Amino acid sequence: MGQLGRFVPGGRKRLTMPGEPATERVRDLPDVRRERLLMRALQNRLLGPLVRRILGPQRIVEKGMAFWSARLVLTAVEAGVCTELADGPLPEDELRRRLGWHPRAAGTALDALVAAGLLRRDRSGRYANTLRSALFLDRTKPSYLGGLLELSSTRLYELWGGLGELLRTGGPAAAEEQGEDEFFAALYRDPTALREFLAGMTGISTPEATLIAARFPWKRFGTFADIGTAQGALPVRVALTHPHLRGLGFDLPVVGPVFTDYVSSFGLDQRIRFVPGDFMAGPLPTADVVSFGHVFHGSPERTRRELATKAYAAIPPGGAVIVYDAMTRPGRVDNYFSLLSSLNIMLETREGYESSTDDCVKLLHDTGLQRIEVRHLIGPTSMVYGFRPGRLPRS
Ligand SMILES: C[S@@+](CC[C@H](N)C(=O)[O-])C[C@H]1O[C@@H](n2cnc3c(N)ncnc32)[C@H](O)[C@@H]1O
Repeated sequence: MGQLGRFVPGGRKRLTMPGEPATERVRDLPDVRRERLLMRALQNRLLGPLVRRILGPQRIVEKGMAFWSARLVLTAVEAGVCTELADGPLPEDELRRRLGWHPRAAGTALDALVAAGLLRRDRSGRYANTLRSALFLDRTKPSYLGGLLELSSTRLYELWGGLGELLRTGGPAAAEEQGEDEFFAALYRDPTALREFLAGMTGISTPEATLIAARFPWKRFGTFADIGTAQGALPVRVALTHPHLRGLGFDLPVVGPVFTDYVSSFGLDQRIRFVPGDFMAGPLPTADVVSFGHVFHGSPERTRRELATKAYAAIPPGGAVIVYDAMTRPGRVDNYFSLLSSLNIMLETREGYESSTDDCVKLLHDTGLQRIEVRHLIGPTSMVYGFRPGRLPRS
């Protein structure tokens, strides 16, 4: 068979090598011509940097290889690197000893954490926390957000291995959703998983709750009920911001002790109490404001409607319902993290998904709520809230 027209794997015609018979030399094929042009543009001294920025493969590679970075950060958080550095800078050998890390890789990993902006290294080579990591990655501080990263490391990282299967079958990857059991009933059977999950939720929700405490008109209300509250990230942030408010966290009974420990650690036991219950069975506790944080996303639309209807019944005229989730925002270019969150909840549950803010507005409106507002909070998360018609009774 002649060389011209012979196809090699990948469907491209093979180029002849120098010294091969002239009859077999491949003409300048269109693909090759394009490749040469691209190479010249990338190599050009003047235009090269710009072309490389626009057309270079680096962004694709970085996105595809982001798991290197994720594993580094998650491993450092699990090992407690920033907690070890809480009292001040340490030389490499001392930090390594405390972490139980091997000298072969420890220095490289610590330098990579410096390059990632999580640590600093001073002139004498000692490692120290940055302001941000001291605040958010030191386990001993109430502002610790590492629970989310620890949860990501122990649970979500592996779960995402099931993405191909989710895309083929629509089925979740979470072991808890494989049997007949309800997701939380299965997850909470393991006390370690229970605590890890609830602390992880606090990690996700604290920055959001901090903004909800500031951006919702709490001043005109006296009481609130946070439904599916987990450790109580929202009740705590709202109560810390508004001393006149009293509230409750409602969740499955097994969550109670974890909630109470967390609320007590802020000295808020007198103003925030735990109410055990199942939001699928029976009415919700009454309050001026009823909130659902990352609760709707785990359920199908019919359940969301059912919960919104129960919330409407639980508030007085003039009362409000708040929903916050990693909702996509129609018309916004950057919904990347909301879409990833949606895939995450599809991997976790049988029927969950992140809705759009528009769909949430419609759902609350259909329930009878009025004056509905949408506020972007932070990262992928937005809140949607609305008011029951009428005036709040005077207390
Ligand atoms: C994804 S977490 C959200 C936690 C918290 N709202 C936040 O935003 O961080 C969902 C919460 O709903 C609670 N939950 C799930 N099913 C429930 C049910 N049937 N009744 C009451 N709480 C439930 C879970 O225990 C969990 O704390």
